[in-house]
Amino acid sequence: METVVSGIRSTGKLHLGNYYGALSNFVKMQNEYNCFFFIADLHSLTTHPTPHGLQQTVRQVVVEYLAAGIDPEKSTIYIQSDVPEVAELYLYMNMNAYMGELERAASFKDKVRADPNNVNAGLLTYPVLMASDILIHHGTKVPVGKDQEQHLEMTRTFGNRFNRLYEVDYFKEAFAFSYSDKLVKVPGLDGQGKMGKSNGDANCIYLSDTPDAIRKKVMRAVSDGGPTEMNQVKPEPIQNLFDLMKVVSPASTVQHFDDLYNKCEIRYGDFKKQLAEDMIIATEDVRSRIEEISADNDYISKVVKLGADKAGESARKTIKEVREIIGFKKFY
Ligand code: ADP
Ligand code: TRP
Repeated sequence: METVVSGIRSTGKLHLGNYYGALSNFVKMQNEYNCFFFIADLHSLTTHPTPHGLQQTVRQVVVEYLAAGIDPEKSTIYIQSDVPEVAELYLYMNMNAYMGELERAASFKDKVRADPNNVNAGLLTYPVLMASDILIHHGTKVPVGKDQEQHLEMTRTFGNRFNRLYEVDYFKEAFAFSYSDKLVKVPGLDGQGKMGKSNGDANCIYLSDTPDAIRKKVMRAVSDGGPTEMNQVKPEPIQNLFDLMKVVSPASTVQHFDDLYNKCEIRYGDFKKQLAEDMIIATEDVRSRIEEISADNDYISKVVKLGADKAGESARKTIKEVREIIGFKKFY
């Protein structure tokens, strides 16, 4: 059976983009593959969370993984820092990752542009840590959004380079995976671009948002004027709201508002009201489970402990083999 590995950084509450882009695929894949899903808390250190903030966000992501339907009996759910072998592999892989290729990564350039005062070495070697996450379990399928494709390419480069250096056929090649032929991109509410944690709370519908919070955010979403002519091309803010509706509403609802738009009869108030109600329905189950699971400390501890044991076992086997391949020997 093929091995699946994926993780989400613990940098905040999960939103509809994370859900439809990543989490919903995790839930489906667990029935077909040997799955490892982790909370990337080591990756979140590049932005220096406080100890309290770190604990809160890691816990939140564990709860939301479970609420979304990841089953700890079928999948291994673990916290990245509970498996220190990942950090050890990261050290080895750093020895043959080159400055030039790391500086050329799109995500690195974006981060430098976004925060020029925090260009730390961890940001530069972020793709090496991600490769180590995948290689430590010999993952071959990695469910992620479009933005992560380049990191997967780098993972293959690092694995293949290790194989060549030590003349072994050890690490397998991993590829980005999605059930749909196109990787999903869920737009945000601010009229432009994707839904993202770093684009502010008003841009995101969180899985944990109350119905009232969802209504307020959607009613405030940028919706522009118009249309002024029949069958007019939709401007980006309107197209985004329609794209969101495609994600959460039945096709007949989308068709209904599309027809009204094309006849210049759409009322954005009604359109947004419907969108908000359908978002509330789409997130209802997950939201109620978030509350339930969040109150159950014992269950959370049990899940995380089971995951640390299972992921640890797989990681220790890899590290033992990697140490042998590299040539470490016990002299005592
Ligand atoms: P964010 O972009 O909000 O910081 P992450 O970078 O932690 O979220 O992303 C975690 C996972 O969710 C990745 O697999 C990413 O591709 C996916 N993802 C994030 N935002 C979206 C979106 N708007 N549409 C589709 N997938 C997304
Ligand atoms: N880099 C991913 C993101 O920003 C998170 C991540 C870290 C990841 N390690 C991974 C995803 C390993 C898949 C596999 O969203």
